[in-house]
Amino acid sequence: MSHETLGIIGGTGWLGGAIARAVLAKALLPTGNLVISNRSGSHPLAQQGACLVTDNQALVDRSDIVILAVRPEHFARLNIKATGKTVISLMAGIKAQTIFAQTSASAVVRAMPNAAVEIEQSFTPWYCAGAIEATTRSLVQRLFECVGTAAEVQEEDFIDYLSALSGTGPAFPALLMTALANQAMAAGIPSDIAQLAAKSVVVNSSQLLVSHDAQQMIDALVAYRGVTAAALQAMTHSHFEEQIGRALQAGAAVARKGLQA
Ligand SMILES: NC(=O)c1ccc[n+]([C@@H]2O[C@H](COP(=O)([O-])OP(=O)(O)OC[C@H]3O[C@@H](n4cnc5c(N)ncnc54)[C@H](OP(=O)(O)O)[C@@H]3O)[C@@H](O)[C@H]2O)c1
Repeated sequence: MSHETLGIIGGTGWLGGAIARAVLAKALLPTGNLVISNRSGSHPLAQQGACLVTDNQALVDRSDIVILAVRPEHFARLNIKATGKTVISLMAGIKAQTIFAQTSASAVVRAMPNAAVEIEQSFTPWYCAGAIEATTRSLVQRLFECVGTAAEVQEEDFIDYLSALSGTGPAFPALLMTALANQAMAAGIPSDIAQLAAKSVVVNSSQLLVSHDAQQMIDALVAYRGVTAAALQAMTHSHFEEQIGRALQAGAAVARKGLQA
C-alpha cells in the first residue's frame, strides 16, 4: 500500500469515478488518502470512504498526486496551483506544456484510459514530462493497473495518436457490431437473430483472441478457403485497413489540434 495522498478533480465522473472506486477496492492507498472533487459536492462515492470536496485548490493542497479527470473544455476554468506536485491529466487533446503553464506542476503525466475502466479492462498508455521520482513513476503505473493494463510511452504524440485508438474503448467494436446487425437485417434476417449473431461475433468469439494471435487466427480461418475467406477477402479488397488508418488519423488530428475551449 502506498502512503501518498491522491486527489481526483472530477473524481465522480465516468473515468475519475471508476478510478476512485478501483483504488479503494484494491487498497492502493489507505481510504483516508483519497480526495475527490466535483462541482455539486454530492455523490455516493463519499459514502464509500473517499473525501468529497468542491474546492479544487484545497484538494490540490492536500494531495501529493492530482488527477485531472474533468472534460477538456472545463480545464481552463479550474484555476489551480500545483507547484512541486505531479499532475496526471486524463484529458484528451491538452498538451503537457499547457498543463505545466496553467498548474505550475513539477511533473505532468498525460494518460489515456478508456471507458473500460468501468470493468477494469482499460489499456492506459501514459507519458511523463518533467521531473518525477522513481517511486511516483511506479505509483502511476500501479494506479492505472487498478483499472486494467498500462504502459509508459516515450513520446507525447503517441498519446494523441492512441487517444483515437485505445482511448476510444468500445467505439470501434460497437460500430462493427452495429454494421453487422444492420446488414444482416437488410438481408432479411430477423432483428433479434441479427443482434444475437453480431453480438456473438464481437463480444463472445473475440474472447478467443485473449489467448490466440490475431494474424494466426485470420490465417487459420482463411486457410479453409471457404465462407470466412470470401468474406474477409471482400473487406480486404475494399481497403479495410486503409479505412482504419484514415479513421485513426482523423481522431489523432483532433487530439493534436487540441480540445480546450
Ligand atoms: N469517457 C471516455 O471514454 C474517455 C476516454 C479517454 C479520455 N477521456 C478523458 O477523460 C476526461 C473525463 O471524461 P469523462 O467521460 O469521465 O467525463 P465526465 O463523466 O463528464 O466526468 C467529468 C467530471 O468532472 C466533474 N467536473 C466538471 N467541472 C468540474 C470542476 N470545475 N471541478 C470539479 N469537478 C468538475 C463533473 O462533475 P460535476 O458536473 O458534478 O461537477 C464530472 O463528474 C475527459 O477530459 C476526457 O477527454 C475520456
